[in-house]
Amino acid sequence: MSVQIIYHGHSAFSIVSDGMRILIDPFFTDNPAAKITEQDVSADFILVSHGHGDHIGDTISIAKRTGALVICNFEIVGWLQKKGLQNLHPLHLGGGNQFPFGRCKMTIAHHGSGLPDGSYGGNPGGFLLQLNSGKTLYYAGDTALTYDMKWLADDHVDVALLPIGDNFTMGPDDALKAVKLITPKTVIPCHYGTWPYIDVNAEDFQARCNQETDANCVLLHTEQSFIIE
Ligand code: NI
Ligand code: MN
Repeated sequence: MSVQIIYHGHSAFSIVSDGMRILIDPFFTDNPAAKITEQDVSADFILVSHGHGDHIGDTISIAKRTGALVICNFEIVGWLQKKGLQNLHPLHLGGGNQFPFGRCKMTIAHHGSGLPDGSYGGNPGGFLLQLNSGKTLYYAGDTALTYDMKWLADDHVDVALLPIGDNFTMGPDDALKAVKLITPKTVIPCHYGTWPYIDVNAEDFQARCNQETDANCVLLHTEQSFIIE
């Protein structure tokens, strides 16, 4: 069964699998890379990797409008409850759970997770999605390169969504090392070009990825899709 991955710019994606829509780090308002607004998206599930504003983004308003189940760490669940959300599922690092779309496990990310109002947002994470459609996706979130990524090779990742923008996360050199550890079939870079701080040459990364690894690197423009057959 095919899976559609839609890039919303920066680090926001929608995954459409088995008729369900999984929205990841829904940052639209004030996102210079966005082409649609938070009013334009639908979601059955919202995954939030960490508390930073460019990831928690429009989670509250989209969840209130759509009734989507928000999946994130325990501390952010508590913060979202105070903001009036009720349909929430707490996960934490290394833990996974079976959801209607498949299994979702929270993976290690080396980064921060403070919430926009200064509240404590726990630890940052990423997500390993083992979809019912048979496809496996890894969304790294904001992270440095970590040798722990080597374990993901055991999970036979079909598509890895990796930050390459440097400055706040892995840059192209470290992201390339991550690809060699994870050994995914396809790599889709994100978290670059949104602001001058994270302006890197994605075409150069793509060329190096295709030359030096077995993975196929796909660059998506905002609102472009990649379909895993
Ligand atoms: Ni961040
Ligand atoms: Mn970020």
